Amino acid sequence: MTAPATAQLITTKAELRARRAALIGPVVVVMTMGALHDGHVALVRRAREVAGDEGAVVVTDFVNPLQFGPHEDFDAYPRDLAADVARVAGLADIVFAPAVEEMYPVLPPLVSVAVGRLGTVLEGEFRPGHFAGVATVVTKLLQLVRPDVAVFGRKDAQQLALVQRLVADLDIPCRIEPVAIQREPEGLARSSRNVYLSATGREQALALSRTVRAVEAAAPSASGILAALASEAGAPGLTWNYAAAVDPATFEPIDESYRGEVLVVLAARVEGTRLLDSTVAEATEA
Ligand code: PAF
Repeated sequence: MTAPATAQLITTKAELRARRAALIGPVVVVMTMGALHDGHVALVRRAREVAGDEGAVVVTDFVNPLQFGPHEDFDAYPRDLAADVARVAGLADIVFAPAVEEMYPVLPPLVSVAVGRLGTVLEGEFRPGHFAGVATVVTKLLQLVRPDVAVFGRKDAQQLALVQRLVADLDIPCRIEPVAIQREPEGLARSSRNVYLSATGREQALALSRTVRAVEAAAPSASGILAALASEAGAPGLTWNYAAAVDPATFEPIDESYRGEVLVVLAARVEGTRLLDSTVAEATEA
């Protein structure tokens, strides 16, 4: 079916299940926490392409309390459901935006999804419990929407890796479709949290995308990639959490002898806001 001019807003699981049962053709989901920006719209556009005229696009819009730590920005996280529905007009068929009590009648739930090593390294080390919260809500949303395809952005590279492992390890019949990072004209990766940055902060945050470019220019040399990770180590106004080059299959750090695909993941704090960036490179020489 071609997307309606305005997506149908659904807030209950019962209504979503009933609507889903009537859908034919590929059902494609884009999971979001709302505050939709151009990066999300690119994911929804890709979902529309994959769904085609026969299929349906479901955007989930839910700020998931399970993935926020006690001192993180769950309460302050930007929320504007009416604007979100307007942003996906003509692209999405359904926006599923449940209340917290609808998603989690018991909070925290008694049973949740454990994520192993991926939950404790890199982003997981800085945000304990975050990936278990992501995996739990993603599993619930996959059960509710029962999509054929789920579109995820590459910016949250560790989340993408986790979701790919989740559907494989739990035998969930859904294909994961990765979409390239969307950037602002100066290079900053698009994120709902960019709204927290002042003009100075946005300038300082460009150290992340400069590091990405340095890594891409250094490939295919493994030692070049490793050196490029530190190229913005002293950038002003930025506290680095990590800048790592890992084997994408294991998330083990690479060394100069490594050959193959390299996932580069970056996280830094600017004006109190955590920002992520990433890229994939190929190492074929020392
Ligand atoms: O990437 C996000 O916005 C969230 O982690 C997700 C996948 C919607 C789960 O809450």
